[in-house]
Amino acid sequence: MVQLRLPKNSRVGKGKKWPQLKDMSEAGRSKRKADLKEFHVYRYDPEKGEPPRLDIYTLDLNDCGPMVLDALLKIKNEIDPTLTFRRSCREGVCGSCAMNIKGLNTLACTTSISDFKGHIGIYPLPHLSVVKDLVPDMSDFFAQHANITPFLRTETPEPQHEWRQSREERAQLDGLYECILCGACSTACPSYWWNGDRYLGPAVLLQAYRWLIDSRDELKGQRLDRIEDPFRLYRCHTILNCTKTCPKGLNPAKAISEIKKMMIERQT
Ligand code: SF4
Ligand code: FES
Repeated sequence: MVQLRLPKNSRVGKGKKWPQLKDMSEAGRSKRKADLKEFHVYRYDPEKGEPPRLDIYTLDLNDCGPMVLDALLKIKNEIDPTLTFRRSCREGVCGSCAMNIKGLNTLACTTSISDFKGHIGIYPLPHLSVVKDLVPDMSDFFAQHANITPFLRTETPEPQHEWRQSREERAQLDGLYECILCGACSTACPSYWWNGDRYLGPAVLLQAYRWLIDSRDELKGQRLDRIEDPFRLYRCHTILNCTKTCPKGLNPAKAISEIKKMMIERQT
């Protein structure tokens, strides 16, 4: 029988409201009129065996950097060192700070706090197991990526210098090579939520297309064989959440439709 309610221990409960600016301003940090913002942050530690909760942190935006990642760093550094999240580059290029911010899967480091009215809810990327707090388990996602052999594969002997490409051939990779594998698109896709164990999802399929369309790659047939499957490829139902959410402005849905076209073309 279909279970429509979340198991009791996975429902998000009320958490702790951490000390507010009043306490922090006593330390003389902000002399200006406070511009307070609440951050409601998902907290979960599987080792504790307790259900997840939403903790509330209040920051004075006069005393905080402009991005959501700045707020998380401030919370971690100055209020609650137990808060766990991933980040590295702070420039939107490593993909590690992907999370769900006020309902949208995106990057914390390129999302401005001023884009949102009211409090900001911050959750891990949806429909993945949570390692801790805002850190999802991306192991399956990266295993799927490895499965499409994301590197140049050739049969002819290696040239003495580089594998050459014309400008036009190189231009075919635009809109694909910029993918930072943040996972925001795949975890926004309902089809990936339900079939993530068998459907490759938009991010990995965009990567697959990046190698299929590369003029230097010589194993296109094998690549297509590998993904021609009712689940791996055809679980895409063009819902387009992927394209809507991609923080790099890429279009995974279009890449998937190009792969489907390739499948038809090779049959004719
Ligand atoms: S296509 Fe966009 S959202 Fe998807 S993994 Fe790549 S950068 Fe992230
Ligand atoms: S910290 Fe690298 S993309 Fe956000």
